[in-house]
Amino acid sequence: MVRLLLLALCLLGAVQLAPCSAMYEVDRVAEYDRRYPREWPPKDYIPNNEGWRSVHEHRFKQIREMDNHGEKYEGWMQSVFAAFLVQNFTEYGFGLVRAPEELTQALQEGIRGGLERGEARLEYQVDVIEGPRCLFIDRPDLTKRVLTELQTYTEAWAQMELTPHIAYGFRLYQNNSVLNMHVDKKQTHIVSMIFHIDSSDDAEDWPIYIEDLLGRTHEVVLKPGDILFYESSKCLHGRPKMFNGSWYSSIFIHYYPTHGWQQTDHQQRAHYIVPPGWNDKVEEKKETPLKMIGTSFKEPTCPNGWCATQDTVKWSGPGEEGVWIDPMMVRHPFEPKRFSAGDEL
Ligand SMILES: *[C@@H]1O[C@H](CO)[C@@H](O)[C@H](O)[C@H]1NC(C)=O
Ligand SMILES: *[C@@H]1O[C@H](CO)[C@@H](O)[C@H](O)[C@H]1NC(C)=O
Ligand SMILES: *[C@@H]1O[C@H](CO)[C@@H](O)[C@H](O)[C@H]1NC(C)=O
Repeated sequence: MVRLLLLALCLLGAVQLAPCSAMYEVDRVAEYDRRYPREWPPKDYIPNNEGWRSVHEHRFKQIREMDNHGEKYEGWMQSVFAAFLVQNFTEYGFGLVRAPEELTQALQEGIRGGLERGEARLEYQVDVIEGPRCLFIDRPDLTKRVLTELQTYTEAWAQMELTPHIAYGFRLYQNNSVLNMHVDKKQTHIVSMIFHIDSSDDAEDWPIYIEDLLGRTHEVVLKPGDILFYESSKCLHGRPKMFNGSWYSSIFIHYYPTHGWQQTDHQQRAHYIVPPGWNDKVEEKKETPLKMIGTSFKEPTCPNGWCATQDTVKWSGPGEEGVWIDPMMVRHPFEPKRFSAGDEL
């Protein structure tokens, strides 16, 4: 009876995470035991290479040393999915390509015109962004065009059939913004694009940092008209270095695999692979402190709030027409077209 009452309160959000998860913990651990051996790691990393394993082993050690119960569970949830559950769809996890010139121009006019006409409003608070609230210019006509026109791009890059979820924009980051390192939503943000449109004339470069599937951190400066393809629920990414300028605007475009993706509850799979003992206290702390800001990660004791910004593979756009560039800097001929199963042969 008490249990049912607590469950109802949890679902209504009336009580905090701690009692809720404590109540579910017995059932969750039973399910973990059914799925995985009682060892760590519970299964092979995906992909199972040295670099990817070591970047996650380190992160898990940092998470074990977190103090706050709620933050700690969030840290586990955000990491186990990327490390063990979601498959990789490409070799290295991201790539750089050039958008069609005409589309970029239409979007730039959308932003500059929107600003001139005073159409920018304050965006709701986003939990992975620190600093001033972003502005938002709502142009569903243009975002719809992006989602449709660029489907051939993502499908040609990921080599599979994809279903469009959302093209989100235009968001305009403001001066002194920070976008903390994070992975995207597990159910719908699987193969994605960051399409950089424009920034104010006074804006300094604002690199995006992204981990590839070998565990290396890249620092990519996108130029207007550049598109970064990335496996967004797998590769940790963000702009932890503070933005300096009036505004900076991109569109975020998300797709998920058409076949065999939506049938699974990916959030639930992640809950069931958080190890029993995830909340055990570590007496002697040895790692660089890691903190959660909402669903995002921060290392407050490092420059830019993220240690890996000190050791990166550096890139800069613009990309090139007709090629996509992979994280080993290898150029591949690129021909955007809808994917169909026969293409693999
Ligand atoms: C997944 O990543 C590994 C390591 O980078 C790679 O060898 C493998 O081909 C990738 N899988 C796909 C489907 O691209
Ligand atoms: C930001 O840019 C302005 C020039 O627009 C420069 O004077 C200032 O030093 C920069 N601030 C930082 C923190 O880099
Ligand atoms: C942004 O903030 C920095 C201080 O952090 C300041 O130096 C700079 O002038 C500001 N830029 C604009 C465009 O407001």
